[in-house]
Amino acid sequence: MSPIQSKTFKAKDGREVVLRSIRWEDLDDCIEFINSLVEEGADILMDTKVSREEEADWLGKRLARAVKGEIIDVIAEVDGKMVANSEVEKRSGLMSHVGCLGIGIEADYRGIGIGTQIIQMLKEESKKAGLKVLVLDAFATNKTAHALYRKMGFQDAGRTPKAICKNGKYIDLIRMTLEL
Ligand SMILES: CC(C)(COP(=O)(O)OP(=O)(O)OC[C@H]1O[C@@H](n2cnc3c(N)ncnc32)[C@H](O)[C@@H]1OP(=O)(O)O)[C@@H](O)C(=O)NCCC(=O)NCCS
Repeated sequence: MSPIQSKTFKAKDGREVVLRSIRWEDLDDCIEFINSLVEEGADILMDTKVSREEEADWLGKRLARAVKGEIIDVIAEVDGKMVANSEVEKRSGLMSHVGCLGIGIEADYRGIGIGTQIIQMLKEESKKAGLKVLVLDAFATNKTAHALYRKMGFQDAGRTPKAICKNGKYIDLIRMTLEL
């Protein structure tokens, strides 16, 4: 599959944001990005910082899967730096019309509309790719994510109790779904 058509918009604070597919040249930014989220203890599944080798392995696999059309990815770039990462991962077999969405924005770039724009783009690209349903899981404690997903049309579809154990505390996961 060819990369998505990039798009530029002005964030709420006036900064120019480019939405585009990830590239091999983003490797250093990817390392800084994911490690910053791990360091702040963001509500994501990862809790250990990655090495350059691990991230290179991850990025190589991701680029290969994007080429095969197994993943739709959108990153946000501000002033030449990658500040957000997201993807819709297509399921397989009898669920190949279903995509699993994930998103993360670097702390200094939250609350200015980047998440909204990314999810809008992921919805459009998923539809173009023939997907019918998007699913995601959010920590029950993640009120911002929940508000964003609700705003973008996702509905609560269930709860997995104690799915996460973060710093010794159990947290439920909320499943949300959207029919495209
Ligand atoms: C959750 C996340 C993706 C939201 O992205 P964002 O770019 O900050 O979201 P936006 O600025 O587009 O805001 C979207 C909506 O979220 C809500 N929101 C944003 N910031 C908020 C805040 N500080 N408190 C409460 N709600 C907030 C609002 O409803 C907002 O819509 P509005 O601007 O029309 O009122 C981002 O905070 C993030 O990456 N957090 C860390 C990683 C993470 O939690 N990933 C999701 C895992 S499920």
